[in-house]
Amino acid sequence: QAKQTFYEAVGGEETFRRLVRRFYEGVAQDPLLRPLYPEEDLSGAEERLRLFLMQYWGGPRTYSERRGHPRLRMRHAPFAIGEAERDAWLKHMYDAVQELELAPELEAQLWDYLVYAAHSLVNTPT
Ligand code: HEM
Repeated sequence: QAKQTFYEAVGGEETFRRLVRRFYEGVAQDPLLRPLYPEEDLSGAEERLRLFLMQYWGGPRTYSERRGHPRLRMRHAPFAIGEAERDAWLKHMYDAVQELELAPELEAQLWDYLVYAAHSLVNTPT
């Protein structure tokens, strides 16, 4: 029996669907973040983030089949991300993570990664 992936442990695709849907509800209302997103309809961005996170945590590799190597720093280069944008992104993600009501150790693992990743994508001095 193979060890369960984090993806499976948190409930698979449905959990990531809920996480990212809730996150983009926040982004849609955010006056700092919303203008950064090039598309009028956020559903494409929502799907890309969901597929990326599913893949990162050991789920299906659909993200890379569609988009290739993630190269997140490069893909964020067109958007000016300073500390304020990072913190706004993390605020919506925090709310979305809370709503999942995961076991504390799973929640901590997910949140620590998101904080680390968001810090690594700041590309604009403030
Ligand atoms: C794409 C903003 C952090 C993962 C994007 C896009 C924007 C954006 C504007 C383009 C939307 C689109 O796909 O059409 C930000 C801001 C962040 C942030 C302001 C604050 C630090 C993160 C983090 C992750 C992430 C921490 C991963 C854990 C992605 C992915 C895409 C994306 C996977 C789609 C890449 C692609 O395939 O084109 N982000 N992002 N972002 N972001 Fe972020």
